[in-house]
Amino acid sequence: MIISIYGAGYVGLITAACLAKLEHQVTCVDIDTKRIAMLRKGQCPVYEAQLPELISEAVQANRLHFTDNFAEATKRADIHFIATGTPSLPEGNANISQIIAVAVTVAQQTERDCLLVIKSTVPVGTGDALQVRIDKELLKRRQKIRISVAANPEFLREGSAVHDFMNAERIIIGGKAQEIAPLQIVYHPLVAKNIPLLSMSRRSAELAKYAANVMLACRVSFINQISQLAGALGANIDEVRQGIALDTRIGPHFLRPGIGYGGSCFPKDISALVYTAKALQIDASLIEAIAKVNQLQKNWLIERLQHHFNNKLAGLKIGIWGLAFKPGTDDLRDASSLVAMKSLLAAKAKLIVFDPAALLAAQKLFINEPAIRWCETATEVLTASLDALLIATEWPEFRNFNLHFLSEKLNKAPLIDGRNCFTLEQVKQAGVAYYYSVGRPQVMSRREIICA
Ligand code: UGA
Repeated sequence: MIISIYGAGYVGLITAACLAKLEHQVTCVDIDTKRIAMLRKGQCPVYEAQLPELISEAVQANRLHFTDNFAEATKRADIHFIATGTPSLPEGNANISQIIAVAVTVAQQTERDCLLVIKSTVPVGTGDALQVRIDKELLKRRQKIRISVAANPEFLREGSAVHDFMNAERIIIGGKAQEIAPLQIVYHPLVAKNIPLLSMSRRSAELAKYAANVMLACRVSFINQISQLAGALGANIDEVRQGIALDTRIGPHFLRPGIGYGGSCFPKDISALVYTAKALQIDASLIEAIAKVNQLQKNWLIERLQHHFNNKLAGLKIGIWGLAFKPGTDDLRDASSLVAMKSLLAAKAKLIVFDPAALLAAQKLFINEPAIRWCETATEVLTASLDALLIATEWPEFRNFNLHFLSEKLNKAPLIDGRNCFTLEQVKQAGVAYYYSVGRPQVMSRREIICA
């Protein structure tokens, strides 16, 4: 199939590279000329495992092209995928202006019947609205061209997006059966691997995307709230989680306690769905509560520090391991680490910081901040005679760090682990002076355990 993809951002690039891997002819277009120039030089503008290799393989095989010329992309394609951003507006609803602009351009320029597929996460009803808008544009052209609109939401996690695309647990396509048939051809190689392809109405497909993200965020907030209870009641969240996860109705996934979810998806999608519900005068208190619990959980690191140092944080040297909203990405959007950093700077602490991927992005956010020292390695952070070390992202290199060495370097400084990177047993054996983790008993150097 001849496919055009609008938006060379995260979703656009993964979709482009993966569809080219499935042997389609793909053109990826973006108005950002710098980004397109980078891609043409073989540089990948986003941090994502396997993506640079996949792009260069597809470019070499002549199946993937990048352009900033819309006409080049709009004229020939059988299928147009829109993967532009839908940032939150101040009221919480998603801004779909870029999506409308692309749809109108396609309607004005295409020379053949085609399918327009919405990949971006959009408010329910966007597909219907686009169809009306496109039909109007086509009427103006007085040509017998038909453009159908389909919804095809993505379920890709940053850090494992290529794997998620190629090994999807389901593919959802929304639209009228006869109109969305070309998507069956697009995804045939995946369906042949027994990946279920669900066809449904456009509105159901649009809502399924929100429902999936809200459900996942709900599980994270649920386990975080239970972990607060576990901490206060002297229980251990690991044991509690085991106790519920073996129930197949509950399962083990997305029940890792921590310092709250972040990223570009959960917070934005929750706000957008709450906005939609309110506009329909439907009670959204459950969905609102997910965001509220998450906001509170983001204070966990600073609260443990305040507790340990009796609210006196001014002048303390606080190490931070991990900034990205999760491992495997350099993305800092809504990262919980930022909440801790801002609170610590406000309390006049000094920060000594390292992240394996997100350091550059963080330096841009905290430009010329004299109270932050940026380190090149996790070990360099430990050379600063720290008063405490916080872990905000569970990168494998932290999980696998030599705990005996860490314990020695920390001396009496507490290790405050917002991602439960270590077992209590490991920490006790290494003799860490004070270890605080989420929803588990506090460990002290005298190898006794007390209630957090
Ligand atoms: C999420 C969804 O998982 C994808 O299916 C979806 O396609 C994507 O949003 C999107 O809408 O584009 P992503 O934002 O990349 O993907 O990240 P997740 O892996 O879902 O993690 C989100 C946050 O939840 C992270 O901050 C992570 O640390 C946190 N989390 C996750 C927990 O705190 N505990 C868990 O058990 C799982």
